[in-house]
Amino acid sequence: MKKIVDIISEDVKQAFKLKGYEEIYGIVTQSNRPDLCQYQCNGAMAAARAYKKAPIAIAQEVVELLKDNSRFKEITAIMPGFININLCDNFLADYINDMRKSKDFGCEKEAKPKKVIIDYGGPNIAKPLHVGHMRSAVIGESIKRILKFMGNEAIGDVHLGDWGTPMGLVIAELKRRKPDLVYFDEEYSGQYPNEAPFTISELEDIYPAASAYSKENPEFLEEAKQITYLMQNGHRGYTALWNHMQEVSVTDLKKIYDNLNVSFELWKKESDAQPYIPDMVEYLKKNNYARISDGALVVDVKEETDTKEIPPCMILKSDGATLYSTTDLATIVERMKLFAPDHIIYITDKRQDLHFELVFRCSKKAKLVEEDTRLQFIGFGTMNGKDGKPFKTRDGGVLRLEYLIKLVTDEVYDKIMENRNMSEEEARDIAAKVGLAALKYGDLSNQASKDYVFDLERFTSFEGNTGPYILYTIVRIKSILEKFKESGKNISPNMDMLPAETEVERELMLQISRFSDMIHYAYDELAPHRICQYIFDLADKFSGFYHDTKIISEDNSEERQASLILMITLIHDILSTCIDLLGFEAPDRM
Ligand code: ARG
Repeated sequence: MKKIVDIISEDVKQAFKLKGYEEIYGIVTQSNRPDLCQYQCNGAMAAARAYKKAPIAIAQEVVELLKDNSRFKEITAIMPGFININLCDNFLADYINDMRKSKDFGCEKEAKPKKVIIDYGGPNIAKPLHVGHMRSAVIGESIKRILKFMGNEAIGDVHLGDWGTPMGLVIAELKRRKPDLVYFDEEYSGQYPNEAPFTISELEDIYPAASAYSKENPEFLEEAKQITYLMQNGHRGYTALWNHMQEVSVTDLKKIYDNLNVSFELWKKESDAQPYIPDMVEYLKKNNYARISDGALVVDVKEETDTKEIPPCMILKSDGATLYSTTDLATIVERMKLFAPDHIIYITDKRQDLHFELVFRCSKKAKLVEEDTRLQFIGFGTMNGKDGKPFKTRDGGVLRLEYLIKLVTDEVYDKIMENRNMSEEEARDIAAKVGLAALKYGDLSNQASKDYVFDLERFTSFEGNTGPYILYTIVRIKSILEKFKESGKNISPNMDMLPAETEVERELMLQISRFSDMIHYAYDELAPHRICQYIFDLADKFSGFYHDTKIISEDNSEERQASLILMITLIHDILSTCIDLLGFEAPDRM
């Protein structure tokens, strides 16, 4: 189905054309003064300059042509040359009935579906996850779902960090704590144990300890670097430990992502790209893309149009060591070879902005990707505490993702238990769903690039622009539908929604009809917050309508009753689809 705004635009464009103006002036947008009208066209003002005429005169001509158009209830020319439009209730109802009967509410999908890799999550196996990793997972998952919804092939890759000095630090620390482990016996040539010599909690404790210790003890840091080097070059014992770290971490990560309702098509690792490095380096040298600078190998990526200082992209350090950029370039080579994607999207903290800029420029310049391969970085802001500083635990440490989830679900659990009696098990189950919605909606309702304040009280509130409020709306509709079913009535398949009878209904229907417009914005901008805005408006308008209208009442005629039920069913389905795109779900009751 065409977007409703496009249908209206076409009529108005046609009128401009018939009156001898370029049709482009007839573009219609949602009104920015909803108190005055539903849609508006400001083209007469621009046309006035081009055709040297008074804008109001042009607006009047166009309005004159359209005033009998059956789609418009009112169309008026307003000084100095606005065209204000209100839709006919019949047209609105017809449009929504078509939405109801179409797949995905009639949303038109991508005409040329793409293969897109989304690089998100980005945890590091030796280090604990922190809230930045949560943002990446939450935003990335939603973007992936939006891409899929629009008909693309979207492949999520967790891109595990498993290849740097952190690994060496963990091994060095382990050696300090348990020097007798067989992995450190250079003479040993037998099989290593299957079982890791540490648990996940030990592992997570080791890295911060090692990192702190290395800052005080340069010789320890040196040793860690040496171990990293040996590990990367196949040292048996270190490789075995590295494999243990992976198993232990991945098992734990899968559990955490599962709790976050996040899943990845691929569990690739930084180390998977390493085999591509030697050939890539050769290629860069041979084709003169790279040059030696102070002993290091670099690719110049500066452009004349740059307004800020752009350093070269580093490929090898002067000691021959590879860097984060080297791994990312090699990963691009790997991805092109294995998947040939049309588009790769990276989602990390916006502070990695320059890193990706250099990597992208280098990939394009050195033709590691096709000319039309799209490389895109989506950087997100920081989650701050109420003090405006990055969110920390009470003792000042970085907050672990698991604790954050627990913090939110516990808060919701208490709220549920406060005024309801249900079994602990049921309450826990509901709290998990509502808590996740609170956390994700709290994050996704902001434009990703912005910092935001984590406000436990507000995020978990059942009122206002929050995840729980959206879920509450869905649950409320479910219970009305349940009641209707219990009343024994049913709706015959040939019944349709009727035109709006009241202003609140009209507004609600208008909001429903804008689903496709919204999804297209969310898709074009890869912006989940567009979905949040829309569903909050929808939920809010529903709330006003519900307050005003008796849905299940003997006073309603059979047709009216059916119409209302069909409408709230549609709202329920749209809200459910939208929260699925955001990556959470509703409980049956709350
Ligand atoms: N592991 C990295 C971090 O913790 C994020 C990886 C992002 N993806 C990438 N291809 N560089 O910061």
